[in-house]
Amino acid sequence: METTSSDKGLNGSILVRDASVEDISDVLVVEASGYDFPWSEAIFRDCFKDSYTFLVLLCDDRIVAYAIISDIVGEAHLLNICVHRDFNRRGLGAHLLHEVIKRARTQKCYSILLEVRESNLAAKLMYEKFGFSMIGVRKNYYPAADGREDALMYQLDVPDLSVDEQV
Ligand SMILES: CC(C)(COP(=O)(O)OP(=O)(O)OC[C@H]1O[C@@H](n2cnc3c(N)ncnc32)[C@H](O)[C@@H]1OP(=O)(O)O)[C@@H](O)C(=O)NCCC(=O)NCCS
Repeated sequence: METTSSDKGLNGSILVRDASVEDISDVLVVEASGYDFPWSEAIFRDCFKDSYTFLVLLCDDRIVAYAIISDIVGEAHLLNICVHRDFNRRGLGAHLLHEVIKRARTQKCYSILLEVRESNLAAKLMYEKFGFSMIGVRKNYYPAADGREDALMYQLDVPDLSVDEQV
């Protein structure tokens, strides 16, 4: 899906499409910019299985963000969403999360789950803005510079699915 955006300093075209294996090198650059403990190439290669949806967001033909969800019997798990550090705070994370929710709805998922570092204020605020609720804590889930860090679990009921569609 292609849109043109001129808000928040973005003047070019924004395109969200399914990723291909050829995109992994660009995705790794985005990943390295976003995380102290980035995923390996092997993990990204594993995300092309049938039950996964791997989206990339291109800004003027450059991959600057991606999101990966897995679908387990109608329950989507948002495994990763990342915007290149140089493109933060321009609405791209929100744009991509909106696409993730739309894709989950298309795939007839009734719920989206995710984990987020307790210290990750930007991501927590983004999820809360979209209506995600905190539903639990996974103790010591993530590696951290000084040991381990808890994950907060967030959940969203995918909007606009009728009860009939959920079964
Ligand atoms: C979290 C992340 C995806 C947000 O992407 P982004 O494109 O910078 O975010 P957006 O500009 O779309 O902002 C969407 C909302 O997120 C929140 N937000 C984003 N960055 C924020 C920051 N630095 N401080 C406070 N709130 C922030 C705000 O609620 C914002 O809405 P607003 O602009 O109306 O205030 C991005 O910071 C990122 O890639 N971080 C590294 C990877 C990561 O932590 N992923 C999440 C793993 S669970």
